[in-house]
Amino acid sequence: MTITNCSIFKRYPVSFGSSGVSAGYEILVGRGITPAIADFLAQKTKDDRVIVVCDDYFKGRIASLTDALAKAGFSVNVYSFEGGKHHKNINEAMRIYEALEKSDFARDSTMIAVGGGVIGDLAGFVASTYLRGMNLIHVPSSLTAMIDSSIGGKVAINFRKTVNAIGNYYHPILNVIDLDFMDTLPPRDYLAGLAEIIKCAVIADKELFDYLDVNSEAVLRREEVALLKIIYRAIEIKLDHVRDDVREQSIRLKLNYGHTMGHAVEISTGMFEEVYRHGEGVAIGMVGAAHIARAFLKQGDEILKRHEAVLEKYGLPVKCASGAIGFDADLLKKECLRNIFKDKKKKDAMLRFVLPVAIGRCEVYAGIPDEMLQKAFDYIIGQ
Ligand SMILES: NC(=O)c1ccc[n+]([C@@H]2O[C@H](COP(=O)([O-])OP(=O)(O)OC[C@H]3O[C@@H](n4cnc5c(N)ncnc54)[C@H](O)[C@@H]3O)[C@@H](O)[C@H]2O)c1
Repeated sequence: MTITNCSIFKRYPVSFGSSGVSAGYEILVGRGITPAIADFLAQKTKDDRVIVVCDDYFKGRIASLTDALAKAGFSVNVYSFEGGKHHKNINEAMRIYEALEKSDFARDSTMIAVGGGVIGDLAGFVASTYLRGMNLIHVPSSLTAMIDSSIGGKVAINFRKTVNAIGNYYHPILNVIDLDFMDTLPPRDYLAGLAEIIKCAVIADKELFDYLDVNSEAVLRREEVALLKIIYRAIEIKLDHVRDDVREQSIRLKLNYGHTMGHAVEISTGMFEEVYRHGEGVAIGMVGAAHIARAFLKQGDEILKRHEAVLEKYGLPVKCASGAIGFDADLLKKECLRNIFKDKKKKDAMLRFVLPVAIGRCEVYAGIPDEMLQKAFDYIIGQ
């Protein structure tokens, strides 16, 4: 059941045999390949109902996909909403469930999630729970979604102050990474995705880190050779970390590098409106984690300074200037220290931190002294 199309540059077969979700699927990377989903589905299912979930930006921009689906005989519903992290919640999920129920969607019907990580996580969560699971296809449109959120099966919605509090592990039947989306992705969202690629480099690939350091101009210009190099490598690193650990018991934890402090900053600053993109929070969180590593692992300054230098090269935040975003620094630190304990990696009530042992290698540690955590927040949260 595959798409044959010459604009596909690379295929990644994915199988998660040990996870209990046995069926494999493919991740396709190419250009202009989204409409080919219609051929794939025509071979895959006899159910002709398809719902495309996207945010309002994409509503009028997915005609090539919906036309191809209609031409192949599918009945297509488009469900769009405002988008953004504040809509990744139970209310929005309920509205999608209603749309599915009203149109008699069945397990063999298909949901296609076109968008960034918010759409993929939310639509994926709904697809994973509706009738205990319907067909899901990811069409990630942001860099973060292409190399991270659409891979590995995590789907979730936020609940109150906890990011991704209600969720599931659910794999799509196909993941289509179409570089055409890169042409319209806003610079800030592109950079936020690069933060996740820098994270991949720190945890697993010094060569990629050096490449990002030396080739920042080509990467910032989104030159195709540079883009493909970093996208391929980030996908491979993600797959290497989730293949045998879908439920995040061991190696997958490393992908959370920068997320423990990053999520705390993201939630504490973003109660009412988004201050930091997810990737920007991760950038600040990586600096915090590198600061902890320097003290806890008794390192010199080099690892911390290299983080800051590369993140700054890409215009990513390395610290949170609280005054500039309307917060008092001391109050914000207190709020971060409260919110950090909502972290899902906690074990036996203890926080676990992914810390860099070197550029290209991270390990998971527990038992970080409170004062080191406090000092790291003092470092990343300024006036
Ligand atoms: N499931 C996972 O493993 C995982 C991993 C990483 C992040 N996430 C989640 O992903 C979310 C962040 O994802 P994101 O950074 O993609 O944010 P997002 O989905 O909010 O997208 C950011 C913005 O970019 C716009 N956009 C996306 N693609 C575009 C394109 N091609 N052209 C023009 N505009 C485009 C969107 O409309 C939106 O306004 C967070 O909720 C985070 O928790 C999940």
